[in-house]
Parts: sequence; C-alpha cells; structure tokens
Amino acid sequence: TYVVTEACIKCKYTDCVEVCPVDCFYEGENMLVINPDECIDCGVCEPECPAEAILPDTEDGMEKWASFNRDYASQWPNLTRKLDAPPDADEWKGVADKLDKHFS
Ligand code: SF4
Ligand code: F3S
Repeated sequence: TYVVTEACIKCKYTDCVEVCPVDCFYEGENMLVINPDECIDCGVCEPECPAEAILPDTEDGMEKWASFNRDYASQWPNLTRKLDAPPDADEWKGVADKLDKHFS
C-alpha cells in the first residue's frame, strides 16, 4: 500500500484525491491519509503530489506512517474531490519535522 507522510502536513494540495481510482483518501484538519485496506497499490497518486508526500510503505522508516495512516483513516471522513490548497501551503512545502515541531 501507499502512505501519506509528514510532507503533506499543512500542504494538503489534494491532487492525490483527484487521481485515486478507489477514492481511499481521508481528510484530517492538516493532512490526508490513505486507507490501507482500500488502496489497490496502483501508484498513480505518488507522482501527482507536489510535496512528494506519498510513498510506498515498503520504503525505510515507513512503519510509523503506515500505522498513522491506518489509525486515522478509520476516524477521518472520506475525501473524493480536490479542494483548494491552504493559502500558506507553499510556505510549508519542504519544511522538515513538521509533526514533531509544530503538531505535538
Ligand atoms: Fe489510490 Fe492508487 Fe494512491 Fe492507493 S496508490 S491511494 S489506490 S491512487
Ligand atoms: Fe497531501 Fe500531496 Fe495529497 S500534499 S493532500 S498528499 S497531493
């Protein structure tokens, strides 16, 4: 499965939602997650994200994000249409350690 990672936080461009054939993105206040039980591993969302936030869960260090996506996908509402990105999305693009420094 693919997972949404830290780079999505505060960027939330939602281009990923537009291309997903199974509508498996779920929306939190600051980022999206993928429901791993619904993702069919097609990979089309990965290159669409301007923040490069989407990765296969087989990459190193993805355990934390795999459980993060699984946990929040069951709590957050499904998102099936692209939204306007937050006005400050570009300022947050590429910022390191967003989760630890700004949201904990
Ligand atoms: Fe959707 Fe495919 Fe991305 Fe999975 S890999 S979230 S099915 S677009
Ligand atoms: Fe987030 Fe990238 Fe989608 S910033 S909302 S994963 S396009």
